[in-house]
Formats: sequence, C-alpha cells, structure tokens
Amino acid sequence: MSVDDPVVSLENVEVHFEQESGFNPFDDPETVRAVDGVDLEIPENDVVAIVGESGSGKTTIGKAAVGLQKPTGGSVKFRGQDIWEAKRRFSNSSIPYDEIRRSLQIIHQDPGSSLNPHRTVEASLAEPLKKHQADLGPEDREARILAMLDRVGMSPPHDYARRYPHQLSGGEKQRVALVRALLMNPDLILADEAVSALDVSLRVEVMDLMLDLQAQFDTSFLFISHDLSNARYLAEHADGRLGVMYLGELVELGKAEEVLRNPQHPYTKVLKWATPSLGLEEGAAEPPVREIDIPDPIDPPSGCRFHTRCPYATEYCRESTPDRRSVGEGTHRASCFRLDVGSDYWRSDPLEGASLEADER
Ligand SMILES: Nc1ncnc2c1ncn2[C@@H]1O[C@H](COP(=O)(O)OP(=O)(O)O)[C@@H](O)[C@H]1O
Ligand code: SF4
Ligand SMILES: [Mg+2]
Repeated sequence: MSVDDPVVSLENVEVHFEQESGFNPFDDPETVRAVDGVDLEIPENDVVAIVGESGSGKTTIGKAAVGLQKPTGGSVKFRGQDIWEAKRRFSNSSIPYDEIRRSLQIIHQDPGSSLNPHRTVEASLAEPLKKHQADLGPEDREARILAMLDRVGMSPPHDYARRYPHQLSGGEKQRVALVRALLMNPDLILADEAVSALDVSLRVEVMDLMLDLQAQFDTSFLFISHDLSNARYLAEHADGRLGVMYLGELVELGKAEEVLRNPQHPYTKVLKWATPSLGLEEGAAEPPVREIDIPDPIDPPSGCRFHTRCPYATEYCRESTPDRRSVGEGTHRASCFRLDVGSDYWRSDPLEGASLEADER
C-alpha cells in the first residue's frame, strides 16, 4: 500500500452469474455476463458517474467496486490491497478488512430500505458509529450525529433525530442515508440510482448536497444512474469523469464535458440523442441505431457487443472485439474500431443497414 495508490482499482473485472435455465433443473445453468473486462481506477477526491441502460451491469460493477460483489474474474483493490484477499480468514492483508468495509460506503436507490422502520434516525445512525468508532462516548456520538444532520439541512437536528423513517420524506431519508455513509468517514461512496426515485424537483437539490459534501470531505464518489442528465449534472459539476456501460462493458470513459461534447463510441451518441434535455445540439429525428432492442446478457453478441445495433458496424465488428483506445491527449478512452485508422474495420463490408460513412445520421 502507498499513499499514491488509488482508493479503488478494478482490473479486468468480470462478474458472471449462474442462473437456472427455465423449468428443467437438469439443464445446464445459464451464465449472465453482467460485467466483462472492466478496468477503472478511482483515485482520492475523484468523482465518476456511470450511465447506461437498465441491465447494462451498472449496479454489479458498483457493488464490485465497493467490495459487495465478488468478481468471478480480475481483481478489485483498495489502496493496492486486494479486497477479497483481505476478507479471507487468516489473510496477511496490509489493510484490515474492517477498515476496507468502513472506507467504502453505499447509498441505495430506495433509502427507506436501508433504515429500520422501528428505530429512530438517531438510533439508526448510532449503530454503525458504535461498531466502527468504539472509542466515542455516547455524548460525543450524539454531538456528531446532530452536527451531521444539521450539515445536510435537517434542522432542527434534535427534532429529526427523534423521528422514525415513516416521518421522513423521500428526500429526507436520502439525506439520512448520506449522513450514515459520511459518519464512517469513507474514502468512497457508491451512490447507486440514489436520486432516481426522488421527484424531479428534489433531484438537483440532493445532487447539489452530494457535490457540496464531496468537496467538503474530499470523499470520492461513484455515482450511478440510468439517466444521462443526472450523471452529467453530477460529473460536470464535480469536474469528474463520465463512464458509459453497454452490456457489461465500459465502452467509453473520460472527462464528462469532453465525452459529451465529443462522444466517440456510437452508443454514447445514442444516449446523447435519447436525452434531448441536455440541450447540447439539435438531434436527428431518428435514433442513431439499426435495432432498438437491447440484446440479452445471457447470450451477448460476438465481437463488438454493440454490432447488432451500431449504424457503422461491419463484418469485422461481428468477429473481433475492439480494445479501449485513447482519444486525444487526456484520459478519454473508447472501445470502437473507428478510433484506429489502421484497423481492418475500414476494409470490411458494412452489415445490413449500416454504413462506414453513416456520420451525422
Ligand atoms: N444476482 C444475480 N443473479 C443473476 N443475474 C443477475 C444478478 N444480479 C444482476 N443480474 C443480471 O445482470 C445484469 C446486470 O444487472 P445490473 O448490474 O443490476 O444492471 P443495471 O444496474 O445496469 O440495471 C442483468 O441482466 C441482471 O438481470
Ligand atoms: S467497433 Fe464496430 S460495431 Fe462496435 S461500436 Fe465501433 S463501429 Fe460500431
Ligand atoms: Mg441498477
């Protein structure tokens, strides 16, 4: 471990689920390729927003990043220490597993589900503090809780501390979830669709609060949303990165502003087209895809997984898998053969309905 190690690093992470196939228990189980070959580093004080359609593997990669989902391949490290190695009994990990657990926190889509309905806000918040900061006396504990409630705008804090979850609005529950995560003094918070269930008017308010707390506590955030406008709002305001998932793969990643201004993966262009509220430019009337339907992660397409829908797909895309390539000088990367001028892609025949010069359709 060194101070320069990223908080979390994912290397070639794969999460495959075995699933009963239909009604016959004697059939071989099917494999759901929820996440395949994802690389991602999250340094300190960094914000990454991940966007993609439902079922593209966002939750699975998020859980893998905070050590709640064991990868079936590749590695997930916390400050250079393999998380699953640290969890092993009798491991000689340089960082105790308990510390890793405390450092990686999660906020769920449904904040109610993580709060015990029979406990007051204060009791719910005191519990993890007792476990991870046992040296704190009851009075100090209460003072910390009240200060944090006040900090997230739940004021007067004494009043909120005594309430039960059913006496809180959705936005307030989400604030309590944020307080609970922050009380652990975490290095990374995974916010998985954390604003998706809130009224539109509240979303920006809660995202602004996250941004404010992120800046104040220097906590890194992995923010996940199926909604590009939310992901963009958070990533751009934090001067962070935007990642795009498609069928278990991270197909594009870079500074949010750059990815949206100059998207390189044809799928990122689809998302941008489908989110006119971004107000980036006039979109075409037709979606930039050949097929609307998303393929099944049990049997993902060969080669480039986007080839069944991509308006630029060729025979070569059906057979070969593109690597992530750099775009320009910075950290912007995308996985598409079109980024490689020397690729055999350019000498291959377009698939039906596709064209190499399909630009600006
Ligand atoms: N525990 C599980 N067992 C089997 N399949 C799963 C499990 N968790 C997720 N999946 C499948 O993995 C894929 C990705 O799921 P998920 O990560 O939840 O996507 P997202 O968050 O982008 O909607 C989906 O096809 C989903 O059905
Ligand atoms: S590699 Fe081929 S199919 Fe995949 S996104 Fe690029 S052009 Fe489309
Ligand atoms: Mg999800």
